[in-house]
Amino acid sequence: MNVPFLDLKSQYLRLKPEIDAVFADIFEHSAFICGKYVNLFEKEFAVALGAKRFVATSSGTDAVHLMLWAAGIGPGDEVVVPVNTFIATAEGVSLCGATPVFVDNDPVSFNIDIGRVEEKITPRTRAVFPVHLYGQPMNMDEIDDIASRHGLMVFEDACQAQSARFRGKAVGTFGTAAAFSFFPGKNLGAYGEAGGISTNDEGLYQKMLRMRGHGSVERYVHDIVGHNYRMEEIQAAVLLVKLKYLDGWNARRREIADLYRSLLADLKEVICPVESADAYHIYHLFVIQVSAEKRDKLKGFLQERNIATGLHYPIPMHLQKAYAHLGYKKGDFPVAEKQANEILSLPMCPEMKDEQVEYVSANIRRYFHG
Ligand SMILES: Cc1ncc(COP(=O)(O)O)c(C=O)c1O
Repeated sequence: MNVPFLDLKSQYLRLKPEIDAVFADIFEHSAFICGKYVNLFEKEFAVALGAKRFVATSSGTDAVHLMLWAAGIGPGDEVVVPVNTFIATAEGVSLCGATPVFVDNDPVSFNIDIGRVEEKITPRTRAVFPVHLYGQPMNMDEIDDIASRHGLMVFEDACQAQSARFRGKAVGTFGTAAAFSFFPGKNLGAYGEAGGISTNDEGLYQKMLRMRGHGSVERYVHDIVGHNYRMEEIQAAVLLVKLKYLDGWNARRREIADLYRSLLADLKEVICPVESADAYHIYHLFVIQVSAEKRDKLKGFLQERNIATGLHYPIPMHLQKAYAHLGYKKGDFPVAEKQANEILSLPMCPEMKDEQVEYVSANIRRYFHG
């Protein structure tokens, strides 16, 4: 049996008639950037989230940068971010000329340790920027409580969490604004780079809309300095086709997560992900923990049996060369450092068959117990 990490090809084959039709329409009309499909996707995704507004962008990284930039994060500011994330969260802060201030992981959820956020707040702190990592929603009530006591903005990195919910409300609707990625491998993925920003703040929305297209509403008239962070029509068209399947796909991911958990339940060598209280986790990734000595060997063992796995992420932000200038050292974030050596992301996508989940689980069992 072969178990890929995710299976975009078979997803395309199932959607082929719909995708081919919208592509034909785009090529026929030959309008390629920020046209009718982008407009429609912005509206439909905002409705799906329950957000007032959505600005489509060229990637999740651009979404992170644009929302922080438009909200006024700048040189001298500090933004509190988790040390365990994809680098784009911290990069967005750096691109604004501000400083990311890292916080260790919660040992169970893999998300930022809320109990350690307050000790990082200084007079320069402007915002808290949690990540709903792997599709696991943060407790946004606790984040909001800290932010309102200290007068901080809240941004969400929802790049891995399209339609994940906390207390029944979609992530991306809690803070000042939230960034989404539609990178092809995400739960809602485009056929290239794509992202976007949700917000309930009309003023910020108008500013982001302008800054996404060189600070202009009228062609060649530029009111403010912006960038080119526009979404392509083909990406919006793919996302529109896929959006109606997202809830079903997320439900299937949750079924697969439950199946993994039940098949691995009695293996004391394996810790399966735990869904936080009041969270609707959408399992963008299913990340298990095993001992650091066994992790790479298990990965190799599974690879030999045609099972692809991943590491998300092998090096926490404070140990990346890109952030050496911030002066952190090994040992500063013990939970994230330990987890980085113990985590292993198992294959996860809605196209997975139960037999594939059983094959992966049986081989993990075989590795530990022969
Ligand atoms: C947590 C997080 N933030 C930001 C990004 C950036 O998104 P993109 O790859 O679309 O630029 C990603 C995507 O990988 C991500 O996982």
